Amino acid sequence: MIDRNKAKLIWITGLSGSGKTTIGKEVYKKLNKLYENIVFLDGDSFREILGNDLGHTPKDRLENARRISRMCLFLVSQNINVICSTMSLYKEIHTLNREKITNYLEVFIECDIDELIRRDQKGLYTKAIAGKLDNIVGINMDYDKPTLCDLTIDNSKQDMLAEKSNKIINLIIDN
Ligand SMILES: Nc1ncnc2c1ncn2[C@@H]1O[C@H](COP(=O)(O)OP(=O)(O)OP(=O)(O)O)[C@@H](O)[C@H]1O
Ligand SMILES: [Mg+2]
Repeated sequence: MIDRNKAKLIWITGLSGSGKTTIGKEVYKKLNKLYENIVFLDGDSFREILGNDLGHTPKDRLENARRISRMCLFLVSQNINVICSTMSLYKEIHTLNREKITNYLEVFIECDIDELIRRDQKGLYTKAIAGKLDNIVGINMDYDKPTLCDLTIDNSKQDMLAEKSNKIINLIIDN
């Protein structure tokens, strides 16, 4: 099934709480049965693997995104397919990915900001709104909304995981 010269990077992006990890994991689980060489790289675990040496300032977030992009490029160049769930909402990083990786597919997980605030799974949004936390993307830190993505999934409702992940699988298979 795998074409060793055609490893792909599936970059799943969106704001915190939008559903990147949940959807990315599901895609990985299904694709793992079809592809031999495939890894799932999640933004949070990536920070941990490297020893949590970066914070969440704009400078650190950008550096983290750059590292993730470089790691993805490294893996893809070794013919490993990568499902990467990461916020990393920087136009320059998306451009870099697109320039460096032939088989780059970008998926934007969209979610209403009110719904993200309601979910508030890490407690970040409430604190940012209360003025107790800086650098929360979407509240008091700007981000680049992907404009050239290959697929946008509206995940404002926490449902239809199978259908949503299948949309990504179909995109991968068709490309
Ligand atoms: N389609 C879905 N069906 C069911 N539950 C979902 C769905 N999408 C998201 N969720 C739930 O919503 C919450 C947020 O999702 P998730 O942790 O995947 O977001 P994230 O984008 O990875 O956030 P972060 O950037 O903070 O890591 C989780 O509790 C997850 O289980
Ligand atoms: Mg996550």
